[in-house]
Amino acid sequence: MDTLLILDFGSQTTQLIARRIRDLGVYARIIPGDSSLDGQIDEDTRGLVLSGSPYSVYEPDSPRPDPALLSLGLPVLGICYGVQRLIHDQGGTVAALPKREFGRAAVHTLAPSPLLDGLPDGFISWMSHGDTVRSLAPGYRIVATTENELPAVIVHEDQPIYGLQFHPEVTHSEHGERLLENFALRICGARKQWNVETYLQNIREETLRTVGDKRVLLLTSGGVDSTVVAALLLATLPADQVHLMYIDSGLMRKNESEEVAELLGRLGARHLHVIDASDRFLDVLKGISDPEEKRRVIGDMFIHVQEQEINRLSIQNSYLAQGTLYTDMIESGKGVGKKADVIKSHHNVRSPLVEEKRKRGLLLEPLAELYKDEVRRLGERLGLARDTVWRHPFPGPGLAVRILGEVTREKVRILQNADAIYIEELKKRDLYDQIWQAFSVMLPLRSVGVAGDIRRYGFVLALRAVVSRDGMTADVYPFPTLDLVEISSRITNEIPEIGRVVYDVSSKPPATIEWE
Ligand code: XMP
Repeated sequence: MDTLLILDFGSQTTQLIARRIRDLGVYARIIPGDSSLDGQIDEDTRGLVLSGSPYSVYEPDSPRPDPALLSLGLPVLGICYGVQRLIHDQGGTVAALPKREFGRAAVHTLAPSPLLDGLPDGFISWMSHGDTVRSLAPGYRIVATTENELPAVIVHEDQPIYGLQFHPEVTHSEHGERLLENFALRICGARKQWNVETYLQNIREETLRTVGDKRVLLLTSGGVDSTVVAALLLATLPADQVHLMYIDSGLMRKNESEEVAELLGRLGARHLHVIDASDRFLDVLKGISDPEEKRRVIGDMFIHVQEQEINRLSIQNSYLAQGTLYTDMIESGKGVGKKADVIKSHHNVRSPLVEEKRKRGLLLEPLAELYKDEVRRLGERLGLARDTVWRHPFPGPGLAVRILGEVTREKVRILQNADAIYIEELKKRDLYDQIWQAFSVMLPLRSVGVAGDIRRYGFVLALRAVVSRDGMTADVYPFPTLDLVEISSRITNEIPEIGRVVYDVSSKPPATIEWE
């Protein structure tokens, strides 16, 4: 399949480059920016993209691509650090700007280039850089600049090497998609061979071949990823070979456990192990207020319950399937270069069970090549309902990180009921699909109110609703005030323990999406 290789130098937006290219229908794969290209390039490779980076090219330990890059004869696109790297390493100079250029900037074209084909003069780009190219390396020329007369687009005179100082992968860059399309389809000549249909066919064949007549265990959380894996396994293997385990931590949304069990049953699950571990989870959470401590004890308890149940069911030798996504692989350090900052680690990647299965070659990660949007498309293709596939994300530690302070059964019940009203109202008002993630948070404080003639002392509930593409940044959903007032009124009327409702108007950054 025609492929574009993305060399990752640790930019926050490397993932977006791959996603945008895949959205064009072209397969894109991320590799560490400083890895040897030997063995990475094959007859399917059509071009390379060099990502941005938190480093400056003139820092002595800044990551460098394999010098073989320029002798491959393949088209290269350097983005931000990527273009500075190309220019610096070939004899040009890159220097710090007196002031970082950050935000939107208009780009003015000086000369035509196939990269800029179809783009209007003065298009808006998204800049985020503290360095700039001061003098070009031999053979390069500037074909577009910003209003500050800084180079924005640099091309090589006679080799297919291109550079952008701005970030076409970020949605704030107008026509960013067109730029990437010009590079991938026109300049690299890559064909649109990446689609969910082919992926599904390949992954089913691979699963059948790998698993043979062995059993597969899937730990499902009810989230989109593990549900899609469940659907995939059940559509591929005989139902007798598929064991599904769902651990009810007692920290799920209202009626969630029943709904998950029902859905998996409908998908044809024959061996569905639903484990009610809510007492154990709520017990270990007693007295804990620190969010990271909550996450740690919950993660440990999941692992403990899993191990116990696997032993009880005698399914130790089965394959273990999990819904790891491409983003998880990259973020947990599997794909990025040794110098890139590892953003966060996911507990499903670190668990001893997973490590043991990985070592024994018994780990199945059928979504490991896919981004979230692609998983959703795959889910739809497998016949999952729209409601299931487009469900808002829900964190692994569940409501424990939405109850600030100590978690108690009583608070879980109150929050479940309040949140159910909030979500039901969003759906009723056709707002749910416009929002990327919406939920309620129970604050560890009470405030005074009145009910009839009586003063009431109730909990404060915060409502959150954000729009986002990937959860890395998020904007507040501009809620129509009347909807908020009506929803708040329903919550305080139906849930006597809640006396006041507030709406969170913080974007990410600087706030996070969750409150803990
Ligand atoms: P934040 O709060 O970091 O959230 O802006 C970004 C996205 O990640 C989810 N999230 C988590 N998911 N375990 C998870 O599986 C966690 O501990 C966790 N913390 C946050 C959050 O719901 C949002 O979608």
